[in-house]
Amino acid sequence: MKTAYSILSFLSLFPSLAFAAGLGNPYTGATIFPIPAYVAEVNAAVATITNSTLKAKAATVAQIPTFFWMDVASKVSTFGTYLAAANARGSNQLVQAVIYDLPDRDCSAQASAGEFSIANGGVQNYENYINSIAAQVTKFPNVRVVFAVEPDSLPNLVTNLGVAKCANAASTYKSLVAHAISNLQQNNVWLYIDAGHSGWLGWPANLSPAAQLFGQVLKMSSSGSTVRGLATDVSNYNLLRGAEDPAQAPNPNFDEELYINALAPMLTQNGFPANFIVDQGRSGVSGIRTAEGDWCNVKGAGLGMRPTTNTGNTLIDSIVVKPPGESDGTSNTSSSRFDSHCTQGDAAQPAPEAGTWFQSYFQSLVQNANPAL
Ligand SMILES: *[C@@H]1O[C@H](CO)[C@@H](O)[C@H](O)[C@H]1NC(C)=O
Ligand SMILES: *[C@@H]1O[C@H](CO)[C@@H](O)[C@H](O)[C@H]1NC(C)=O
Repeated sequence: MKTAYSILSFLSLFPSLAFAAGLGNPYTGATIFPIPAYVAEVNAAVATITNSTLKAKAATVAQIPTFFWMDVASKVSTFGTYLAAANARGSNQLVQAVIYDLPDRDCSAQASAGEFSIANGGVQNYENYINSIAAQVTKFPNVRVVFAVEPDSLPNLVTNLGVAKCANAASTYKSLVAHAISNLQQNNVWLYIDAGHSGWLGWPANLSPAAQLFGQVLKMSSSGSTVRGLATDVSNYNLLRGAEDPAQAPNPNFDEELYINALAPMLTQNGFPANFIVDQGRSGVSGIRTAEGDWCNVKGAGLGMRPTTNTGNTLIDSIVVKPPGESDGTSNTSSSRFDSHCTQGDAAQPAPEAGTWFQSYFQSLVQNANPAL
């Protein structure tokens, strides 16, 4: 680990280099780059809306910064073009992306199964994927890059080792997340490792095992200086703070802030930095799930808090947003990636494949936005 003292004394000599992970909140003073692919999706969606009130509200969503989901290796070159575009805009630009291509991905569900498998060269493929991402960020040292790392992967190792695919993938997930950390040590990078959400790892029995696992994976990396903390509620529906969602009962840590406050001291004990980003992209409406574990295109959801560093909690660097309108998974029972969560009573249907545009769901997210758009 770099020591804060040596970096600070170095920076006092070269104030123009006044950012480096580990020193602070990357979102402070940053302008978040709008992801062009998402802006295009929203603009195309808006063009098909006839209700003029809804159309005007939907159009404003294009201005909400989101993460670029690198769910296949072929998207890394697109990511590179976004870094170049951000670089051309000037200083303090921040690009957000999700690293999401582990072999045997989504080990406890089906809907987001990925392109790489452990049995078929997936470890080497993933190392190449990470190295290609590193090559892109190295080209643009003046652009701040925030990565959310591998949604659901380490959380699955806390609670789902009873699933054979997860048990088989456990050591690979750990070593490859450590590989990602080791190879993304550029000074313009901040990593937030995915930590599930309050209704998952927030249960009291899961907190300490989770903190130990995050600490273990960080220690497995050759250097973890650019690990800023954890990302929570990515693609989920929990409130940052608010009244208890009945689906969470009897979990005492029933919202993201309670979860974060409970986990933070345990992270510190395990040598892991206790800073967070929290996705509130679909957390505008609480109490819409039959069961807390329901995750697929939950009906009645609305856009939640907009991205801000004014989070009301010093542990939380920023509120962030997954691209609202992209599906969590298909409701087509014949699809190879069909997951039964996507045809439950509280799932919006018919739903297209994970990651693809879901127009009617987008419109209801806009309609139910809280705060209103
Ligand atoms: C048009 O959209 C607005 C805002 O979402 C909504 O309140 C209203 O009910 C819609 N009108 C119709 C006719 O659907
Ligand atoms: C459902 O998936 C099957 C298999 O991929 C495909 O043939 C079929 O066209 C899909 N149905 C719909 C309604 O998209």
